[in-house]
Amino acid sequence: MSGSEVLHDVQRDDLIDAAREARENAHAPFSKFRVGAAVRAASGRVFTGCNVENATYGLTLCAERVAIFKAVSEGERKFESVAVVADTDRLTPPCGACRQILWEFCGDAEIVLANLQGKVEIHQMKHLFPEPFDSSFL
Ligand code: THU
Repeated sequence: MSGSEVLHDVQRDDLIDAAREARENAHAPFSKFRVGAAVRAASGRVFTGCNVENATYGLTLCAERVAIFKAVSEGERKFESVAVVADTDRLTPPCGACRQILWEFCGDAEIVLANLQGKVEIHQMKHLFPEPFDSSFL
């Protein structure tokens, strides 16, 4: 485990539960790899997402991006925590594309990884995504 403790344990457990529930809606007929995500905005609102696959494969959206984009489209811009749940022993981290998007909207937020057996790890974005390209270069 690494990083600062941004959320209370109960809030974090709730976020994991929300991600686990969202995973139930995963549309993953090609990979069968079901993922759920939940983001907690600075406002306290929680938004969830699941992976949504497409027959072209390349148009697939990961659970994390679905959750973030849902929140952004509802007016949220600042986030304090993201939970990701998959059914893997080695906890599933966000892919590279999602890390770029997460950095843009969440900065150095905590990323909570969990599986269905209750294993949990807390990471910080700055460790998952070192040397990012972002708006500070523009
Ligand atoms: N996937 C996610 O939704 N989030 C991750 O963190 C890793 C990968 C999805 C994309 C695709 O639908 C499936 O998992 C296999 O890559």
